[in-house]
Amino acid sequence: MQAKAHSTPNIAFIKYWGNRSEELRLPQAASLSMTLDRPTVEIVIQEADAFSVRSFLADGGEKALREKDIERFRKVLSLMRRYLETLHAKDALPEHSAITVRSHIPPAIGLASSAAVFSCLAKAVAGLVAEKITLTDMQTSILARLGSGSAARSIFGGFSTLEEGSGMELGSSWSEQIADERHWLLHDIVLIPALEEKKVGSTEGHALASTSPFYATRIETIRSRRQQECIDAIRMKDFEKLQNVTEEDCLDMHHVMETSSPSLHYLNEDTHRIVNAIKGLRSKEHIPVLFTMDAGPTVHLVCPDEAKDAVLSFANAQKGCTIFKAKVGPGAKII
Ligand code: PMV
Repeated sequence: MQAKAHSTPNIAFIKYWGNRSEELRLPQAASLSMTLDRPTVEIVIQEADAFSVRSFLADGGEKALREKDIERFRKVLSLMRRYLETLHAKDALPEHSAITVRSHIPPAIGLASSAAVFSCLAKAVAGLVAEKITLTDMQTSILARLGSGSAARSIFGGFSTLEEGSGMELGSSWSEQIADERHWLLHDIVLIPALEEKKVGSTEGHALASTSPFYATRIETIRSRRQQECIDAIRMKDFEKLQNVTEEDCLDMHHVMETSSPSLHYLNEDTHRIVNAIKGLRSKEHIPVLFTMDAGPTVHLVCPDEAKDAVLSFANAQKGCTIFKAKVGPGAKII
């Protein structure tokens, strides 16, 4: 008994930062992202005599996993089993399974691999249990969320939310699709200024969010207008509106990070230089392009198809940066 899936990362327009349950990764507020078409992660899961997880890079070489990473997989599988139990499919997932991860994500490019990995694992698990229970994409997104909150959104292609939901159950927050990948062709030109690994991972970072004096206002603003403004911008393909709300939310999240205790500084000098330069280009040449950054110094420049060439030549002119190109994609699939 085995199943295989592939998946990709996503880039958030409304950022997920902070949980109401760290263990279950239940978010404090909703978030919204665009699923990318690359780079891909592939996972095979099969029934085995004992639990194991192995990870391979695109060149075929095996990546040594830290004990911490292996524990995360073990914990996620046990949470997944608990969730399946709530669906009366307790034994659908074998007691032990062997997981093989094949990642085409270049190491240290600042693209969150956890979203791709755990959405992929969730989809593979959905494939593995399919004989006993057919999971909807919404239920599969709950499985993904148990590994990484943002992973829930990569179950869907195009544009999707992670809903805040209510309650403290395993299934109390899930992902929903706003529009599929054919709705709006947007590109993500990724500029990676520093190749250093981030110091504090998002799992630890979420737990600090509520120590910022600006966190309560952030949550209130997302709930009262920002998430809805972003949904409207995507439905109407209103790029200016999307730009305004995305940049406002990104800067707000980094303000919360920087004012938490201890404070988290993910952006560096290069990030600020690139952001200022793109603002300059935008006001001079009226190019539709927005910037956004996750928990690292990497800058994502998102633009519609007509601006792609101009944004790419801007990116190529930035010294010392690695550039990675992606566009809106179809989400996790069983293969
Ligand atoms: O899914 P996590 O726990 O890796 O958190 C992701 C956090 C951000 O990338 C900063 C924001 C987001 O919504 O993707």
